[in-house]
Amino acid sequence: MKRVYFLLAFSAFGMNAYGQKTVDQKVAELLSKMTLEEKAGQMVQYSGFEYATGPQQSNSAAVLEEIKKGKVGSMLNVAGAEETKAFQKLAQQSRLKIPLLFGQDVIHGYRTTFPVNLGQAASWDLGLIERSERIAATEAAAYGIHWTFAPMVDVARDPRWGRVMEGSGEDTYLGTQIGLARIKGFQGRGLGSLDAVMACAKHFAAYGAAVGGRDYNSVDMSLRQLHEIYLPPFKAAADAGVATFMNSFNDINGIPATANQYIQRNLLKGKWNYKGFVVSDWGSIGEMIPHGYAKDANEAAQRAILGGSDMDMESRVYMTELPKLVKEGKVEAKWVDDAAGRILTKKFEMGLFDDPYRFSNEKRQKEQTNNPEHRKFGREFGSKSIVLLKNQGNILPLSKTVKTVALIGPFGKETVANHGFWSIAFKDDNQRIVSQYDGIKNQLDKNSTLLYAKGCNTDDQDKSMFAEAVETAKKADVVIMTLGEGHAMSGEAKSRSSIGFSGVQEDLLKEIAKTGKPIVLMINAGRPLIFNWAADNIPAITYNWWLGTEAGNSIADVLFGAVNPGGKLPMSFPRTEGQIPIYYNHYNTGRPAKTNTERNYVSAYIDLDNDPKFPFGYGLSYTDFKYSDMVLSSASLKGNQTLTVSVTVSNTGKYDGEEVVQLYIRDLFGKVVRPVKELKGFQKVAIKKGESRKVEFKLTPEDLKFFDDELNFDWESGEFDIMLGTNSQNVQTKRIIWTQ
Ligand code: NOJ
Repeated sequence: MKRVYFLLAFSAFGMNAYGQKTVDQKVAELLSKMTLEEKAGQMVQYSGFEYATGPQQSNSAAVLEEIKKGKVGSMLNVAGAEETKAFQKLAQQSRLKIPLLFGQDVIHGYRTTFPVNLGQAASWDLGLIERSERIAATEAAAYGIHWTFAPMVDVARDPRWGRVMEGSGEDTYLGTQIGLARIKGFQGRGLGSLDAVMACAKHFAAYGAAVGGRDYNSVDMSLRQLHEIYLPPFKAAADAGVATFMNSFNDINGIPATANQYIQRNLLKGKWNYKGFVVSDWGSIGEMIPHGYAKDANEAAQRAILGGSDMDMESRVYMTELPKLVKEGKVEAKWVDDAAGRILTKKFEMGLFDDPYRFSNEKRQKEQTNNPEHRKFGREFGSKSIVLLKNQGNILPLSKTVKTVALIGPFGKETVANHGFWSIAFKDDNQRIVSQYDGIKNQLDKNSTLLYAKGCNTDDQDKSMFAEAVETAKKADVVIMTLGEGHAMSGEAKSRSSIGFSGVQEDLLKEIAKTGKPIVLMINAGRPLIFNWAADNIPAITYNWWLGTEAGNSIADVLFGAVNPGGKLPMSFPRTEGQIPIYYNHYNTGRPAKTNTERNYVSAYIDLDNDPKFPFGYGLSYTDFKYSDMVLSSASLKGNQTLTVSVTVSNTGKYDGEEVVQLYIRDLFGKVVRPVKELKGFQKVAIKKGESRKVEFKLTPEDLKFFDDELNFDWESGEFDIMLGTNSQNVQTKRIIWTQ
């Protein structure tokens, strides 16, 4: 795929001032004309003057001057046709007229926002995910952006960590597939096309394993776990031709990722032969001083470049320190050439040397603002990301002719909140967001009444609005409660130690429940929350994440049955914070509990069941799916044979629906212990009511491979359990023998 991107870029933009040369030749020629300072300049990235996600080093006037002197290679947070043009004009005043790269966090949509990424992952729909990034890229590129800092492919097993909202959850396989779909969506037909942006696999590496779920915290883990759980999505991204990588804030086994030679030089640029460039995270080069890994800016710069960081995002140490380091012989010039060369390569591939303004186009920008097709898609994607957790007595879907509906909760009339964290393009455009209230109102019959009460805030202890909410509920035939955590309570630097509904929302729910009215609870969050009382006492619950621009419409489509929810959880939902980290693919241990409630001298808590409240892969539908007996092509395989596993899934309920059929395996014995289950495949199938579908998977020895204690990646002869089912707990199992 890398080759294809390259060829596309080359054929489209090969003819220019540099003639018919390969990109490598052009880069070499350009490098030969550059001073050391100019090369270091290419490795510098400053932020524009909004959206700081860390301490900003740069002052505006000074940055503009630096650009004119060719001392800046890239800007982040500069967007819009006009603004990018203005900055590019400054770069064109520099001696060699090397264009700037404009980067931005386009995380879950741009002008049109889509569900937060964890919600998208709950769709288990790779086609929808790819399409959403295609749209995001088209919109962002039309706003002059060349490069998104996405996808985040960090595996995360700790819902206290606020950034779980930006990833694909706890599973390596699912996360890898989703990461690939995102990269395909962003990079489209290849770098250089006007509707594509460069993608960035981040955060390299293991950022999701921060101790205690506290953002930016240290990571300490075995190399085996690193390779098996945390690195595969990155390796797959590199193989698929992702344009860039971003490293991470954390230290890994004592060495900050930013200067981690093993991770960045030996693996990424060595063994994986990655040709793109690596940008540091915001200020992470300078942060090696507080980490205690570099005594000053000079040493930080030295360690970062030797460790494989090519571009310095907002630490401001490369510009000042790299030329000195080279002159003093502390860094070989070849490393600066290599880093600057990687960055220049991308600028050539993007066609920026042919026309530095080619992405800054007012007409395209206008066309991609408020694009109705994109909104239509956002509505569909939102509804497909919702997970139905409970539907006792089939309360859902609601009839549109219910006489009186009450919407209660702090998010009912919110607009901005529906974007969730990381919706940068939106600050000026809030009227475009469909609130939950408006979405429901639009679909409710004209003769029905929709009442509303806020009930409480999300972030304080104030109960003064309870009474009004209770009175409102009493007038209704059905109450829809919209609760959760505030939209800015997940995301970067948003770790929480308690992950229940924030503020007094649970108390509000209990008060409303006392009215005896049927309640549908919609939960808004960027992470798995803990809500045992609600889960045990409220009959119908949907997990809505944050759904983006069209949130209200997507929600109403599910509430009233235009869409039958088919989402499945991409993370295990714990019963208490004490169970964290909790993940389905754990090891068995020498003393596994045979039942959930077994406590005595087994690996269990004396005060809690072992299993999660809702398992990985879980999600209901308005219809019922029955799995018939699974069929294996053979119970005994040899060498490179292929195992075919199939099952017939029947829709026995009253609605058409979609089911995510999940395939897990267990390697029963190994030279290192293996997880009790590992996801190896999934298929999302649409089945009409009354119909059945045969779903088939293929497994080869590739799927049995694992890293041993010496990091060899191979498989062993032995027995394997093959499991198929509707979630990670509810599976049917057949055993096979597979010998080499
Ligand atoms: C810090 C975040 O960790 C990273 O993901 C993001 O891309 C940068 N800030 C730029 O905003």
